[in-house]
Amino acid sequence: MEKLVVALPKGRIMEEAVDLLRQCGFSLPKNGDLSRKLIIEDDESQLTFILAKPSDVPIYVEYGAADLGVVGKDVLLEESRDVYELLDLQIAGCRLSVAGIPGTQTRMIPRIATKFPKVAFDYFRRQGKQVEIIKLNGSIEIAPLIGLSDRIVDIVSTGRTLKENGLVEMEEIMTITSRLIANRMSYRMKHPMITHIVDTLEKIIKK
Ligand code: PRP
Repeated sequence: MEKLVVALPKGRIMEEAVDLLRQCGFSLPKNGDLSRKLIIEDDESQLTFILAKPSDVPIYVEYGAADLGVVGKDVLLEESRDVYELLDLQIAGCRLSVAGIPGTQTRMIPRIATKFPKVAFDYFRRQGKQVEIIKLNGSIEIAPLIGLSDRIVDIVSTGRTLKENGLVEMEEIMTITSRLIANRMSYRMKHPMITHIVDTLEKIIKK
């Protein structure tokens, strides 16, 4: 039987992704046991799972190091990699929003801190607004608190991080869920196996 490599994102999405794959019958350890191991083999299904940084998942898939990947729509839009988006897994639902300190004005050209410079830039351009984007790699909420930026564009899930840092959501840019993506060549060469996985996932998602 052919082998298939699936890239999973470490962090926020991981628990729900692993739950979903376990429901499909794949042997993945419970989330608590996944903290250190980076490659997990499921001998029975011939799947190898690699645990990657979320923004790297589309890169593994584009280059064919992974045949399939699970990734947030936010990362997919930001990375714009040459991969197939096969399925909305309807997990890890959240939104990408503009947030800031309530009641504050922005500079003439607002400064926006974000992990998603491309998506943020496109959003403001569509609105005809000129902004200065500052790319950060994490803990984005700090930026307005110390005057680095006027606003942030970031993921809001429970809203707790914003609240605990005295920030409020000001505009919702889009809602986000995780997607199953495939390498273009793998999709052709390993079509039966990939289709089987997609069908199984679809049945579980619809339940
Ligand atoms: C995301 C986002 C917020 C947080 C929002 O961070 O950047 O910080 O989750 O979640 P909440 O609304 O439930 O509080 P992530 O976990 O992706 O980590 P990072 O910002 O350090 O990259």
